[in-house]
Amino acid sequence: MNNRYVIANWKMNLSLNESVQLAKKINIRLMKEIWRRQVVICPDFLSLSSLSLAFSKSKLNLGAQNVFWQEQGSYTGEVSIKNLNQLNVNTIILGHSERRTILKESSEMINKKLKLVLKYNLNPIVCIGENKEIRDKGRERSFLKKQLKETLIDIRLKKNQEIIIAYEPIWAIGTGKNMPAKEVKNMLNYIKEEIANLYNKNIANEKFVFIYGGSVDTSNIKSLAKYSDIQGVLVGGASLKLNSFIKICKNILE
Ligand code: 13P
Repeated sequence: MNNRYVIANWKMNLSLNESVQLAKKINIRLMKEIWRRQVVICPDFLSLSSLSLAFSKSKLNLGAQNVFWQEQGSYTGEVSIKNLNQLNVNTIILGHSERRTILKESSEMINKKLKLVLKYNLNPIVCIGENKEIRDKGRERSFLKKQLKETLIDIRLKKNQEIIIAYEPIWAIGTGKNMPAKEVKNMLNYIKEEIANLYNKNIANEKFVFIYGGSVDTSNIKSLAKYSDIQGVLVGGASLKLNSFIKICKNILE
């Protein structure tokens, strides 16, 4: 365990056709790489079934950008984990800041989703991160501590389960203002310490993986890759461009 990861979050940027084309190209480019199992592609929901077919023989992982916390029932417009499971989705992004801010998802909701994802033995990516206002006031650490505590209430991990924590400062998302690699490393170490306080050091080391997201691209990936404490990246915009994405994968995973 504790592999490094590269997660592509395509958000709601591509048409169905574009998603399938890009997925096929990534698949071909990564076919021979032993580390392709550490790459996860998260398209929009409507593209999942086509990508599930496209990836059926490869070792690329398919991820979803969200899930509902109930397994099934009268929940108009929500997405069922059972159906994601049937489509061979093995990873689920939870609590992305765009969902927390635009869709008003609370840490309590994310906690319920996390419990369900673990019940189904899928891999959760839990996103946390402060906005600019909080950072300007220097309150990012206490903010992250609270987000972690609320999101991880009553979460116990079974053997072979791990949680990926994605630290994505909101002010760095889609802005080109990425955080310097050394500071990313320090923030991830802080987050790990807080996880050790909530559980213990062993669990923080063995059951949690700490990755960064926020304007990761080909210009900053080399410096991020230098720090072994940065265990991966969650990539938005740059994951939509084939060559940039492959370069990012190679820098982190080779
Ligand atoms: P960008 O890489 O476009 O800044 O997006 C980051 C992100 O939100 C990934 O989840």
